[in-house]
Amino acid sequence: MLRSQLCSAESLRSPALRAWAERLRPMWDDGRDVMLHRKMWEWLFVAEALHERGMLAPGRSGLGFGVGQEPLVALFAHAGCDLVATDQPRGSAIASGWTDSQAEWAGGLEHLNTHGLCPDEQFVRQVRYRAVDMNAIPSDLRGFDFTWSSCALEHLGSLAAGEDFVLASMDCLRPGGVAVHTTEYLVSSENETVEAGGTVFYRRRDIDALVERLRREGHDIDMDYRLGDTPEDLHVDVPPYTDVHLRTQLAGYVTTSLALIITKGTGGGGGLRTLFRRPKG
Ligand SMILES: C[S@@+](CC[C@H](N)C(=O)[O-])C[C@H]1O[C@@H](n2cnc3c(N)ncnc32)[C@H](O)[C@@H]1O
Repeated sequence: MLRSQLCSAESLRSPALRAWAERLRPMWDDGRDVMLHRKMWEWLFVAEALHERGMLAPGRSGLGFGVGQEPLVALFAHAGCDLVATDQPRGSAIASGWTDSQAEWAGGLEHLNTHGLCPDEQFVRQVRYRAVDMNAIPSDLRGFDFTWSSCALEHLGSLAAGEDFVLASMDCLRPGGVAVHTTEYLVSSENETVEAGGTVFYRRRDIDALVERLRREGHDIDMDYRLGDTPEDLHVDVPPYTDVHLRTQLAGYVTTSLALIITKGTGGGGGLRTLFRRPKG
């Protein structure tokens, strides 16, 4: 089974992730055998982590956060899941610039199956769209078999906001449910980072603290911090970007992708959390 881990060429080339990549061929069929791109890794990893845990099957319910125009919603609907796909409300998306690229904010179902990964009638039967701010998850979104987010929790304003989102979104799962989230991981420093702003970068110590909080609440997570060491892993991509895009330089920092797989505990950790909620700093 996959563990929580960092993006690497070896993981992208694994048979399991390549099989998912084949399913996404309509999106990127440019003749390349493997697309060595960290965003592709994030999508494939989320799909495989949920699949391995039996989540991508008819009747399973899933809740996606900050879905943008990612292909995962269509892939999971095609697997038979009943989904609530969410992204931030239009007003905040415009204010924070997420509508500028035309390719990163959802706003509704219409951009979520553009590659035809799921038959349209199945897609509209099984997917509902809802505007949800990840910093204020509505309390009626409960009881899901799985939740996920890709490349979204680092955009919530601060390191602490992203961590609080991961904890708060565990309340959306039924006991034993699975969360998979991907985010930015800082490779070039153990100290200096961007702690607040439009995009933040998580250091190992931030992830250690998050893992500790999750475990304290009774959730299960198993972290592997090994970095890839092939020439493709070591290449730091800068504009104009190349075909090898596993590590990038952003705001002077070298980052890659991190994926977290968390299984919700079956105990009563939520009650304690309500009593001893961590003070916001
Ligand atoms: C880089 S895009 C990623 C989109 C998509 N998940 C993907 O992998 O292509 C970041 C996404 O996070 C969403 N987002 C940013 N802040 C948010 C917030 N406070 N609540 C919900 N979504 C948010 C954006 O609207 C956007 O869809």
